[in-house]
Amino acid sequence: MGINMYSAQIEAAKEKFGKLLEEQLNRVEEMKKQGDFINYKALDKIIIGVCGDGIGPAITSQAQRVLEYLLADEVKQGKVEFKVIDGLTIERRAAEKVAIPADVLKELKECHVILKGPTTTPRKGDPWPNVESANVAMRKELDLFANVRPVRIPEQGIDWTFYRENTEGAYAVGSKGVHVTEDLGVDFTVVTSQGTERIIRAAFEYAKANGKTRVTAVTKANIIKTTDGKFLDMFREIAKEYPNITADDWYIDIMTAKLVDEKRRKDFQVLVLPNLYGDILTDEAAEFQGGVGTAGSANIGKCYAMFEAIHGSAPRMVDEGRDIYADPCSVIRAGAMLLSHIGYTKEADKLYKALDICTITEKKLVMTGRDTGATSEEFANYIMDTTRNL
Ligand code: IPM
Ligand code: MG
Repeated sequence: MGINMYSAQIEAAKEKFGKLLEEQLNRVEEMKKQGDFINYKALDKIIIGVCGDGIGPAITSQAQRVLEYLLADEVKQGKVEFKVIDGLTIERRAAEKVAIPADVLKELKECHVILKGPTTTPRKGDPWPNVESANVAMRKELDLFANVRPVRIPEQGIDWTFYRENTEGAYAVGSKGVHVTEDLGVDFTVVTSQGTERIIRAAFEYAKANGKTRVTAVTKANIIKTTDGKFLDMFREIAKEYPNITADDWYIDIMTAKLVDEKRRKDFQVLVLPNLYGDILTDEAAEFQGGVGTAGSANIGKCYAMFEAIHGSAPRMVDEGRDIYADPCSVIRAGAMLLSHIGYTKEADKLYKALDICTITEKKLVMTGRDTGATSEEFANYIMDTTRNL
């Protein structure tokens, strides 16, 4: 009886839900058609796009200098080209009310790999319209399904690699929930066989190629039975194909606790998880390493790959004219991951070593985010000087 008064709203919600299902089923068909990973070695030229917002340009330009320095010969010979892509600013996105303006997306798709500084994600109360996160949109548009986030603290025996699913889960239609009535809001979480299989396989393949002996799935399958349940079932199935790797699974709540258990946490090696749990757990993990500002993140798909800093765009630093003091360490680390991904492993190793020296063992410069510390440019110079002696 009471429900009938809402029948128009329920119909409207059903219609929206129907559209979402159509979109997601189309995505499944696209995934079925997907071929193999791109082979960078077969390309005449690798185009590296560079973009970001807020303090983004200040720090990505420094990371670009470092990469150009390490790849000087390749750049000279035209084998590697850098392309700065402007226009991913919150002002442009707000004016057009889109997550990524069409011309920017076109430019991004003309690159093979992308080095991305932070972008601004509007939230309630901001002066910006509630456009979708550029980050999330880019991951979806370029189908960057594997978000790989390493966390290493050698002196504590910690060497974790997180494989966060990057295109599904709570994020797939995160900006398309439905306010059914004034009182009832519903969001959706999405899982597909194709999307789940490719992330779980990526994690096991990484483990196999890198001598890791354990892969751990993290879900809340006891409660979120359909989507997390499917993720866990597929994990168990695929694990059977890797008899030399121990496969176990944990629920996200106890896993969050175990990461602070100094006796147990060093035993984890590769972790594979749905999108939202991956988002949360990787921030926690990065905190042990020195904060999210010290972490880099790779977003890998079959055609494209994007490497990013995992901190925010700090618009206040820009307003106060302090962006020249922003710490470029996270985006430079993302640059090292990029180098290794496109096959320049020697240069990547040098850069990883230099980052360790400059931020842990030697630490000749201090970054404070203001004029009491070094500038991003000075830090980049320090990194380049350090690689010279390696
Ligand atoms: C991350 C960030 C993003 C996410 C935000 C900025 C959309 O927190 O890369 O982890 O939630 O994925
Ligand atoms: Mg996050």
